[in-house]
Amino acid sequence: MASFDPFPVLTTPRLRLRALEPADVERLFRIRSDPEVTRYTGRAPDSSIADSEQNLAVVSAGIRENTSIYWGITLKEGGELIGNGGFWRWNKPHRWAEIGYGLLPAFWGQGIMTEALRAMLPFGFESMDLHRVEAQLDPENRASARVLERLGFTREGQQRQNWYYDGRFTDTAVYGLLRGELQAAAT
Ligand SMILES: CC(C)(COP(=O)(O)OP(=O)(O)OC[C@H]1O[C@@H](n2cnc3c(N)ncnc32)[C@H](O)[C@@H]1OP(=O)(O)O)[C@@H](O)C(=O)NCCC(=O)NCCS
Repeated sequence: MASFDPFPVLTTPRLRLRALEPADVERLFRIRSDPEVTRYTGRAPDSSIADSEQNLAVVSAGIRENTSIYWGITLKEGGELIGNGGFWRWNKPHRWAEIGYGLLPAFWGQGIMTEALRAMLPFGFESMDLHRVEAQLDPENRASARVLERLGFTREGQQRQNWYYDGRFTDTAVYGLLRGELQAAAT
């Protein structure tokens, strides 16, 4: 079973995925407070640095307790923190976890999250011994759906009105990727 100590730093051609640190909190706040980033996530944007500090504390506790892992996504060139992503809701007996991710809008449309997930997913299958990775998203979140489809995820269904936020119920699309289904790069 995976140990997250030392923290597993992952690298890709353009990116370095590393642990989030207290010094990242302002940058994390920029990501988590951006309404474009939270638009389809069914939660309010962070409204203060304290909200992002709280998120950082939850992320750190998950890593310490070996129950979830989130990476800070940085550019190899310059080291700037531009996003985050990782596995949570890790169901160890049944060997699956849910994946989540977000990127500053200035970096959208360059295949960056696809590249980051191509490093995180093999880590999940190999080091965390996952059999299945699940993604849950707002059915209107086309950008996220495209990323998942390109990686080989199957859209398995749609839960009806299981999320209540901001005065309305929304559906959740469920995507799954089984061990061995990760699509090779180039598409
Ligand atoms: C989902 C997200 C991570 C995608 O990251 P990305 O690095 O831009 O992904 P890609 O470059 O591989 O692009 C994927 C799709 O995004 C869409 N996209 C690209 N640029 C976009 C833009 N400026 N505005 C809206 N959509 C855009 C395109 O449909 C693209 O698909 P295509 O290549 O078939 O045209 C990013 O849009 C994001 O952070 N969104 C907000 C957070 C979020 O929704 N997270 C997922 C919750 S389930």
